[in-house]
Amino acid sequence: MLGGGLVPGSLVLLGGSPGIGKSTLTNMALANLARAGHRTLYVSAEESPEQVRLRAERLSPDALAVPVLAETDLDAVLEVLAAQAPPVCVIDSVQTLGASGLSGAPGSVGQVREVAGQIMELAKARGIAVILVGHVTKEGALAGPRVLEHLVDCVLQFEGERERPYRELRALKNRFGSTHEAGLFEMRQGGLVEVLDASARFVAGATRAPGSVVLAAMEGSRPLLVEVQALVAPSELEQPRRVVSGLHRNRLALVLAILQRHARVATGGADVFVNVVGGVRVDEPGCDLAVALAVASAARGIALAGAPRACFGELGLTGELRWVGHPERRLAEAARHELGAVIAPLHSGSQASEVATLAQALACALPARDPVTVVAAA
Ligand SMILES: Nc1ncnc2c1ncn2[C@@H]1O[C@H](COP(=O)(O)OP(=O)(O)OP(=O)(O)O)[C@@H](O)[C@H]1O
Ligand SMILES: [Mg+2]
Repeated sequence: MLGGGLVPGSLVLLGGSPGIGKSTLTNMALANLARAGHRTLYVSAEESPEQVRLRAERLSPDALAVPVLAETDLDAVLEVLAAQAPPVCVIDSVQTLGASGLSGAPGSVGQVREVAGQIMELAKARGIAVILVGHVTKEGALAGPRVLEHLVDCVLQFEGERERPYRELRALKNRFGSTHEAGLFEMRQGGLVEVLDASARFVAGATRAPGSVVLAAMEGSRPLLVEVQALVAPSELEQPRRVVSGLHRNRLALVLAILQRHARVATGGADVFVNVVGGVRVDEPGCDLAVALAVASAARGIALAGAPRACFGELGLTGELRWVGHPERRLAEAARHELGAVIAPLHSGSQASEVATLAQALACALPARDPVTVVAAA
């Protein structure tokens, strides 16, 4: 995720919503470093040493070996850091440390800036790699850590739905490497476990019922097969619902407009729900076609035709299907999981069922009968 490792003297901001697993992730990282013989320090300004120990007991013996400093006063933390100069240190969290002599409660913009600034100064001077943990709401609304994004070297975001086991780590900014990588983890009793073959799970779990489509997505530089599900139902509301999870709302709005205009799939009077199964987020242009096929399949009440297959591609405003990056990796991943010819844009590769437009993709994926959708008819 960091592009090769932690750089001495650098600051990494790890953001995430409450309870997502930030402390678990950083604890486990320090435990691995400790096992490899590195000195570390875990500063907990949120939990008591007892609470940290309880978690560590659940994680591993190495986690128990990580030195913990439970302290909320910045000066006290700086003193310990200066004295010990551990090569790697986690501050959990930047919002609960308070700088004395500064007005405002811990977590306020002024305090967060001051705390991060002072830690950075010391970290650069002593070559300490610091990971700052920060809370961000789902919308990124909280003023707190966002104000630090320009200050730190890397910004990592830990996300996922708390009720589901999958967690994704993404880089939003990285001065030392690419921001295209993503790590997929599963939260278990014993901590976070990297999910090595997520595609296999998602493909096996795909229902293939009307409204279900497998998307060959890219997670950073890695291909990932995920199931996209849609539900289209007549609405009682004046403004029908548009509910998405796992992708951006505006993308759904765009796809619905293109479907209506270029494929005569009308959903104006219907509630539309689209969900990327497993709580994964696939915000990339390549997901358009999967969303369109899922919605069309749901609206018509017809499952995708032929052998189990996947799709990918971006939709243009004139109804054309546009080329997206790494078609060869997406196709290889689909082939590895024994999915039939993948519906893809032109120039994607000879193994794909290449189509030029959304209308062609629909004709290929859904047995075309009545162009008027079930919902529109209802
Ligand atoms: N025994 C357990 N088995 C499985 N998962 C657990 C267990 N205990 C806790 N968890 C998971 O760990 C999560 C909390 O992890 P953690 O404390 O690392 O999150 P956090 O992001 O640091 O939270 P906070 O915002 O409170 O600091 C819980 O939401 C839960 O999903
Ligand atoms: Mg925590």
